Amino acid sequence: MFTSKITGLGHYVPENVVTNDDLSKLMDTNDAWIQERTGIKERRHIKKGDGNSTSVMGVKAAKMALKEANLKATDIDMIVFATLSPDMYFPGGGVEVQELMDMKTIPALDVRNQCSGFVYAMSVADQFVKTGMYENILVIGSENHSGGLDFTTRGRSVSVIFGDGAGAAVVSRSEDDQGGILSTHLHSEGKHKDELALQGPSTEHWVPEIIAENPQEDIPYYPYMNGQFVFKHAIVRFAEVIHEGLEANGLTTSDIDMLIPHQANLRISQFIQQKLKLSDDQVFNNIQKYGNTTAASIPIALSEAHKAGKIKKDDIVVLAAFGSGFTWGSVIIRW
Ligand code: UT7
Repeated sequence: MFTSKITGLGHYVPENVVTNDDLSKLMDTNDAWIQERTGIKERRHIKKGDGNSTSVMGVKAAKMALKEANLKATDIDMIVFATLSPDMYFPGGGVEVQELMDMKTIPALDVRNQCSGFVYAMSVADQFVKTGMYENILVIGSENHSGGLDFTTRGRSVSVIFGDGAGAAVVSRSEDDQGGILSTHLHSEGKHKDELALQGPSTEHWVPEIIAENPQEDIPYYPYMNGQFVFKHAIVRFAEVIHEGLEANGLTTSDIDMLIPHQANLRISQFIQQKLKLSDDQVFNNIQKYGNTTAASIPIALSEAHKAGKIKKDDIVVLAAFGSGFTWGSVIIRW
């Protein structure tokens, strides 16, 4: 077995900053409610004509990650692309990245695990590298939420939370058998699939059917979230899967140097921090600036934390996510 290591990180967010006050001009909401319930102050939205899309943002983040890894696009052996908001219904974003970055005819795999997408994608990359099949894998999480949200008062409990952006990591084979990705832990519970979902368009809810059958106040082509239900499950599963990962490696919460939780809600991150008895220095949050960027949130946060010098060699870094599906997972890394 080989060791797999993160050798490069990158992130990109669109320039267009959307504050809570900006949203309150579109719907019945306000800065106080949003900050109190979610911790979010602002988020980024793609602006029509700025050239961005889910795949394009993914490529921008990927270029930064490749530069850090000191690799060329042609050195990459596989792309794993996580998103819930691809540019097209099919094919997925992976092949767009392959084309936009002028890569070899390498495999491009799309991961559809929403907020857990990056953790799932890292797990896939980790297996391919550890077994020796590939040497360098580009893992991307990217989302264009703003293209598909309901910015009327009807959609306010969802639309104020989500933002656009992308993050990327290069996972490479390493000779160092002490460090790298120690283990990954993945879960799902499909009985809760309807609690956080976007139903259509899909083969079960195709466009003419949606238009014909749904009154204006009940539109299943906007995301639905049973917020409190999701919140309650999130805090349980986050803690569970972090403990599972630590125990698998003979570690405890006091060994954590940096926890990067999926940025779902600052209150969720703070709840986990308290539950695991971690100090402020052991947890990184940036939801205040970007909102919840789903599959992009962990790689953006990881890239920012690393570039800010908050992650050092030999640190135990824990990535953890929970979201639609429900799906959840963790990645335990010795940096
Ligand atoms: O990343 C994937 C996983 N996602 C999550 O983990 C999200 C988990 N859930 C949450 O983060 C929170 O449940 C939310 C932030 C979504 C909502 O916060 P909450 O404290 O659970 O609020 P709520 O849904 O219980 O709504 C409370 C009130 C309601 O009004 P009434 O019925 O009490 O009169 C809502 O209609 O707040 C109202 N409300 C709003 N008011 C102003 C809902 N959205 C807004 C809004 N602005 N944007």
